[in-house]
Amino acid sequence: MKDSRLNTRLLLATDSLDWVMNRTIKQSLSLKNATPLSVESDENAIPSKPIETLYIHIPFCHTLCRFCSFHKVKFSEPLAREYFVALRQEIREVIAKGYRFNRVYIGGGTTTILEDELIKTIEMIKGLTPIREVSCESDPIYFKEGNPQLLNGLVDRMSIGVQSFDDKILKASGRFEKFGSGLEQADYVARAIALIPTVNLDMMYGFKTQTPESVHWDLKQTLRLKPDQITTYPLTIGIGKNRKKAGSLAGDPHALWPQFLAVKKALSGRYLMEFPWTFSRNFGQAVENKYVLDGEDCFGVGSGAFGRFGEQFRISSFDIQDYIQLIKQQQSGTCYTKQIESSALLQHHLMIMMGHGRLDNSVFYQHTGKTLWQAFPLEMSYLIGAGAIKKDGSQYVTTEQGQFIGLKMFTGFLSGMDYLREQARDLPLMHQELSAEIV
Ligand SMILES: C[S@@+](CC[C@H](N)C(=O)[O-])C[C@H]1O[C@@H](n2cnc3c(N)ncnc32)[C@H](O)[C@@H]1O
Ligand code: SF4
Repeated sequence: MKDSRLNTRLLLATDSLDWVMNRTIKQSLSLKNATPLSVESDENAIPSKPIETLYIHIPFCHTLCRFCSFHKVKFSEPLAREYFVALRQEIREVIAKGYRFNRVYIGGGTTTILEDELIKTIEMIKGLTPIREVSCESDPIYFKEGNPQLLNGLVDRMSIGVQSFDDKILKASGRFEKFGSGLEQADYVARAIALIPTVNLDMMYGFKTQTPESVHWDLKQTLRLKPDQITTYPLTIGIGKNRKKAGSLAGDPHALWPQFLAVKKALSGRYLMEFPWTFSRNFGQAVENKYVLDGEDCFGVGSGAFGRFGEQFRISSFDIQDYIQLIKQQQSGTCYTKQIESSALLQHHLMIMMGHGRLDNSVFYQHTGKTLWQAFPLEMSYLIGAGAIKKDGSQYVTTEQGQFIGLKMFTGFLSGMDYLREQARDLPLMHQELSAEIV
């Protein structure tokens, strides 16, 4: 089929996918039926084997970037110190209850905003329970202004948000004043790569001023630094209130396809595509993909953390004072749970399989007791019709168009997480006195 016809078919398919995903997210991720956590059911939920990831959220930033809808407030040192004390208490209690974890992932916000508190927290965890790997998010300026050598032996992997080396984009998103020019940030990132065992760089595309050529240029700057992993996020604009703010920075959604091809072209040969949004350095064999949302179980601690294990979402208080007071009273930091519908779990599997590039009927059947066609009659027809998957023996593999559709599904998933955060901010506070003050 001619390229232009293929492209038109793909763009029509992704437009309808965007529409369907927005509707499904609103239905399946509504928190209207979220229920307050009950202590008994919480204690019964402790799994006998380790949960894959303990996610720790640090909700403070010095200034706020225009595109970001993650949970964070402007930094205040006294509040942040009080927060870290509560956070450590929550972690101690969770471990004392019997929860065990393979990995720790510390995300933000700005995780390194109080380096001494971060170090104390990681040391405490390592003293309480064996942990295979500690992964931590960071921004580039930490490697100029902080003392990252103090994290030696404590942090195995750093995921550093660069987003772009293009000063125009850094200025538009509010990151130039904060973290320096693209050239300066490249210098800080080089220091990180020399110091930390595994470094991932987060890059973004889909901004208004970006073109396939500028995305290619950006990725070439990234390649020069030789990070172990590169994550390339399309700018997510969400489906709720954040949509307006992030949306003012976003380009035409149809511009994402040529930009995705530019990302692949820039990285091909030297990096392996693990997912259409994650690339690992090509040492001849794939680096283990450690992305926290791989669909593995995750237990969240701290204000604004989400957890997901089994068939439940667990949501911690999004109000920092409420969170601190709850922990002081030895109540759980997790306040609400939401049952995940089986159809939403299946959709998540489909996204991960599309991301992996392979829809394997027998593996899927072993996992769910259904064939792909039983679970996804409409979706399979749509994917075949859109030229996204083709038959390969007993399985289906994704085409390049299918990789892009997998990427769009992943952006839909990120929008869903934005939507959950947005609703979680409006859930009633759990701490009695604070909620009485508000009423
Ligand atoms: C929430 S930040 C935390 C790390 C650190 N504070 C930073 O700014 O680099 C983690 C990553 O989320 C991604 N992110 C934030 N908002 C996003 C959005 N609207 N669309 C896509 N990715 C986003 C960015 O790539 C960022 O590096
Ligand atoms: S992108 Fe990072 S630095 Fe910017 S507001 Fe979000 S968490 Fe803070």
